[in-house]
Amino acid sequence: MAAGDSFYIATPIFYVNDVPHIGHAYTEVAADVLARWHRQSGDDTWLLTGTDEHGQKILRTAVANDTTPQQWADKLVEESWLPLLETINIQNDDFIRTTDKRHEEAVTIFLQKLHDDGYIYSGEYEGYYCVGCEEYKQLDDLMETPDGDYAGQLVCKIHSRPIEVLKEKNYFFRMSDFQQRLLDLYEERPDFIQPESVRNEILQFVKQGLSDLSISRSSFDWGIKIPWDHSHVLYVWFDALLNYITAIGYGVDNDEFQRRWPATQLVGKDIARFHAVIWPAMLMAAGLQPPKQVFGHGWLLVGGEKMSKSKLTGIAPSQITDTFGVDAFRYYFMSAINFGQDGSFSWEDLAARYQSELANGFGNLASRVIAMVNRYYDGLVPAPAEYTADDLKVQAVVRAAADNADAAIQSLAIHDALASIWTIVDELNGYITLQEPWVLAKTEETRKRLGTVLYTATDGLRALAVLLSPVIPEATAKLWTGLGAAAGLGELTDQVIVDAGHWGQLPVGSRVGTLEALFPRIEVTETAG
Ligand code: ME8
Ligand code: MG
Repeated sequence: MAAGDSFYIATPIFYVNDVPHIGHAYTEVAADVLARWHRQSGDDTWLLTGTDEHGQKILRTAVANDTTPQQWADKLVEESWLPLLETINIQNDDFIRTTDKRHEEAVTIFLQKLHDDGYIYSGEYEGYYCVGCEEYKQLDDLMETPDGDYAGQLVCKIHSRPIEVLKEKNYFFRMSDFQQRLLDLYEERPDFIQPESVRNEILQFVKQGLSDLSISRSSFDWGIKIPWDHSHVLYVWFDALLNYITAIGYGVDNDEFQRRWPATQLVGKDIARFHAVIWPAMLMAAGLQPPKQVFGHGWLLVGGEKMSKSKLTGIAPSQITDTFGVDAFRYYFMSAINFGQDGSFSWEDLAARYQSELANGFGNLASRVIAMVNRYYDGLVPAPAEYTADDLKVQAVVRAAADNADAAIQSLAIHDALASIWTIVDELNGYITLQEPWVLAKTEETRKRLGTVLYTATDGLRALAVLLSPVIPEATAKLWTGLGAAAGLGELTDQVIVDAGHWGQLPVGSRVGTLEALFPRIEVTETAG
């Protein structure tokens, strides 16, 4: 992308029937890393997240808790979903709730337009519905359970709970009209749906043919009223998907809308179909562009199964951040799992990577280099003398890492970006071992060489701080202060990330500080065991 381009990224909006777990945090962190990277590349960046608050699932949860759905949603948003963003250090630009007046108004405008243009008709729906999924189901989405509480009943394969049989008058969206246009879209833009596995699944699904979609319900009233028939409320997914455009001014602020849309959409693969089929069809019907991209990432697994609220396997993000810190949380999930594939979470793996990669690999490197500048140069970054092949190799590694990381981020391969950046950590550790600055410090003849080695190490750390700042913002801010870089270079978050690989930016004579351990030793307690 060229600097200044619009980069609009959105997460799903999450159901407020329950509190967040690390699966939700995973999507948030990925989106935040991409947004911070683009922001630091000078792109016109916007990160949207929020909550999905209408529909039967929320209504039933509220009733079961002796409260109203609005009160329930308010409570969960205030006490759980907004605090999540603090817990994992998300820099979102907006937070939309489907109960926001701005959302309800813009949804009404959208619906009326589709109705006026003939894309909505009234009909009769007869079939199955899973409230857990908030989705109309076909028979092959269901199974009969042989035993347990629901023995002999038809249950949803995802939620293992009985489905509802509906027979009601609904309004329908003419989704079937869009089958060919969707297939053309997938064909013309092979990276519209990512990764390949999700794309293939969606292609197969759409090729089988699309039916029209029931978009209203009249048996309960927790939702947005259908503008021309107030006895119906809008189907919760139709309502929720629209958040991506209502939040940026659809129907109200055309300049803002034109500035932002289309979005890069990160979702879990569980809901890729809604985003890659229904959503672009809705947009096409309204004469709007489809999203820029729909990326369906993999699942965090517990015991081989998708971690989920309904199966009570959720781990609260604070369980991890309380022990390991927010940066370690962010780093771990972004580096340990190939973005796009499933990954199993384990405390052992987290603790091992924390120790070897963050504490020993990166943290120690930073502390040692800064300590040597303090010890041998009274805290002033020394000037390099003539560069040797070893020094030039460090520079080449830094440059290649920065270029490769940027290329990886452009294709949403966050783990590849981190692997590229980590080549700098490994290179610098090897370089220090080989150059032995503590030996060079022993005699005056090697004083110039010592200056070159320590300049090379500190400017390498400068590049690392910039490149890692989207992923581990707290530790890199400490490192930036430790390097004394702000005096000559300005704030860390103002550094242009795509220029991070240009050698020699840290001014000679910068005054380093003292650096506390970036990733201190962890006393492993019960919660982390
Ligand atoms: O589906 N691993 O909301 P939701 C990885 N409201 N990611 C996970 C995960 C796991 N085990 N569990 C959840 C909804 N997620 C709708 C969305 S959008 C218009 C409406 C993440 O609360 C992942 O992003 O069930 C998944 O798609 C999302 O949470 C589902 O959240
Ligand atoms: Mg879900």
